[in-house]
Amino acid sequence: MGFFKILVSFIVCCCFVASAKFASADSFLSKERLVDVPGKFLNMAKRPDLLEWMVRIRRAIHENPELGFEEFETSKLIRTELDKMGIPYKHPVAVTGVVGYIGSGKPPFVALRADMDALAMQEGVEWEHKSKIPGKMHACGHDAHVAMLLGAAKLLQEHRDELQGTVVLVFQPAEEGGGGAKKMLDAGILKNVDAIFALHVSYKFPIGTVAARPGPILAASGFFEAVIKGKGGHAALPHTNIDPIVAASNIIVSLQHLISREADPLDSQVVTVGKFEGGAAFNVIPDFVTIGGTFRAFSKDSFTQLKKRIEEVILTQAAVQRCNATVDFKSNEKPFYPVTINDNQLHSHFQNVAGQMLGATNILQYTPSMGAEDFAFFAESIPGFFYSIGMQNDTKEQLKPGHSPYFKVNEDVFQYGAALHASLAATYLFDRHPKLSTQDKVMHDEL
Ligand SMILES: *[C@@H]1O[C@H](CO)[C@@H](O)[C@H](O)[C@H]1NC(C)=O
Ligand SMILES: *[C@@H]1O[C@H](CO)[C@@H](O)[C@H](O)[C@H]1NC(C)=O
Ligand SMILES: [Zn+2]
Ligand SMILES: [Zn+2]
Repeated sequence: MGFFKILVSFIVCCCFVASAKFASADSFLSKERLVDVPGKFLNMAKRPDLLEWMVRIRRAIHENPELGFEEFETSKLIRTELDKMGIPYKHPVAVTGVVGYIGSGKPPFVALRADMDALAMQEGVEWEHKSKIPGKMHACGHDAHVAMLLGAAKLLQEHRDELQGTVVLVFQPAEEGGGGAKKMLDAGILKNVDAIFALHVSYKFPIGTVAARPGPILAASGFFEAVIKGKGGHAALPHTNIDPIVAASNIIVSLQHLISREADPLDSQVVTVGKFEGGAAFNVIPDFVTIGGTFRAFSKDSFTQLKKRIEEVILTQAAVQRCNATVDFKSNEKPFYPVTINDNQLHSHFQNVAGQMLGATNILQYTPSMGAEDFAFFAESIPGFFYSIGMQNDTKEQLKPGHSPYFKVNEDVFQYGAALHASLAATYLFDRHPKLSTQDKVMHDEL
């Protein structure tokens, strides 16, 4: 009996050692074969069951678009899918936000972000899964972002035991002007998180390509509204009144001089007055005029200076014409967005991972623009990286830009988005894991 026991434990031991060895040489996520990981994830993401599942999720969200901080059904759908996969999460964060966790539950932590909100506009595309809510539409592709992050969750969850740390899934509300990212950040979701990645679908770049750039890529953005008060009366007797329309017109022209005469021509800035409301009759000078607009800059200092000068110009230019003005930056409803800045080291990581998956020639240059993204709040607080993922397939129709009522998503992009998310996070954890790097050092010392 004694001998039999020893024999059994010997066999068990051998098997264990053999299988452990087998696992390390052949495991999906191995330090030695990290370069293969992006390709492996892409192959996984091409599985028909996974693709169909992502498409189903995206179409369900597309049919039921919800505006910022109202993403209740979208949030519920996400949680249902996380439950099915056995992924734990925090909810609610910032009203509808969901934060999931995959891996060891220990550091390092790396986050992946998807936004969930739709736009207040009517869908113009006639198709089977058209928005069922009049006046609301997913015209920026956030439905696709959710589907791809859930896709990545599935890929990562299948290899959760091999992750060298924890992947944090961030499903955030209200990207389109509501500052949902800021609310998520204020709730502490990035505490102890080392880096965060996000993607945005793009009609501009070909399917199978990505576009990226280190450093500042999108502008800081703010809004303002001003009421210019005069004294209304008969249009034929201007000398008996104070005309706010002429005053507001001068204000708008003076605001343009902030860009053409005060800003460094090499330091991109924008002031646009998009709203001008006042008067109703041809022969009446109104009591007041309301103007409103947005201002953008590529650095924090320029942004602060521009804000200060917008207020000064409105108040003092109104006074020139004997009017009184008030200025409201509405930063409670529409928080100022910081400049979106891509971290240099994460850019190198992205180049490696995306290059291994798609080939170096399929990594394109992203051109900075004066657009804004509330991902900037995350990237301001920890190292962040935001990239575009191409959707245009020239053998199919020409896609329309985001926020167009004819915006469409090429669902072929899902495999790339899911696989990129998963690969960026999984390989980042390997690079970042302290034990692995000390082991590495020991090994090198031995050599
Ligand atoms: C502007 O405010 C001053 C001070 O309150 C007031 O005397 C003046 O009548 C106001 N002008 C207009 C056009 O409302
Ligand atoms: C582009 O569209 C064609 C025709 O539908 C398809 O066969 C091809 O796989 C697509 N290319 C990519 C990269 O998705
Ligand atoms: Zn948008
Ligand atoms: Zn968007």
